[in-house]
Amino acid sequence: MQFDIITIFPEIFSGVFDFGIVRRAVEASLIEIHIHDLRDYTHGRHRQVDDRPFGGGAGMVMKPEPLFRAVEAVTTGVPDVNVALLSPQGRLFGQPVAEEYARKSRLVLICGRYEGVDERVVEQLITDEVSIGDYVLSGGEIPAMVVVDTVTRLIPGALGCEQSAERESFSGGLLDYPHYTRPAEYRDLKPPEVLLSGNHAEIERWRRRKSIEKTLRRRPDLIRDRTLSEDEQREIEEILKEIDE
Ligand code: ADE
Repeated sequence: MQFDIITIFPEIFSGVFDFGIVRRAVEASLIEIHIHDLRDYTHGRHRQVDDRPFGGGAGMVMKPEPLFRAVEAVTTGVPDVNVALLSPQGRLFGQPVAEEYARKSRLVLICGRYEGVDERVVEQLITDEVSIGDYVLSGGEIPAMVVVDTVTRLIPGALGCEQSAERESFSGGLLDYPHYTRPAEYRDLKPPEVLLSGNHAEIERWRRRKSIEKTLRRRPDLIRDRTLSEDEQREIEEILKEIDE
């Protein structure tokens, strides 16, 4: 998978991809990350990337020409490419969108700034507009980092063999269960007995139950949005009864 990030602040990205899973994915050639300075696609001496909005009003708008040139430079002749604009107006980026992106071979991320980008860019150039949440950041750079990190974790081989994307929060549409590690006793606090029992079937059952419990308490919307098997439905009813008691 190749990520192309188009930004007016390329320096923001120095360092962020040099750690952990993303770094390993780059080193293993599972992904490539190319950062493009939008100002390199301007023509004038001032390398201007924004201008005042037609019709007046506050703030500046990102000009169309540099964005058209930049996107065309990185996508011409490339099949199966998504061009995503990061903006608070986009559809919500979550695990399902990440999974969709992870199936592509190329993803272009345009980091919006100022009041927004010229609508001709939105209409003609982008295939997708995504927001990482219902809050307004100063630009699309941090959201682009979020997208690269989340999508990279889903690329086959990116996670070590002891880790698995399938077991994590959200991949099954549920929150993660609680984790414990050594020491077995700390300030009189002990992990649940079952985790030390060596009984793998019981451990699995406990973890699943905790996942469902936590999801019901914190994010009932996730359960509502799932299609449930009969077993799951029964388990949820049992847990709800326990929570009531
Ligand atoms: N740019 C500013 N706010 C944003 C958000 N919430 N998501 C994506 N891009 C943004």
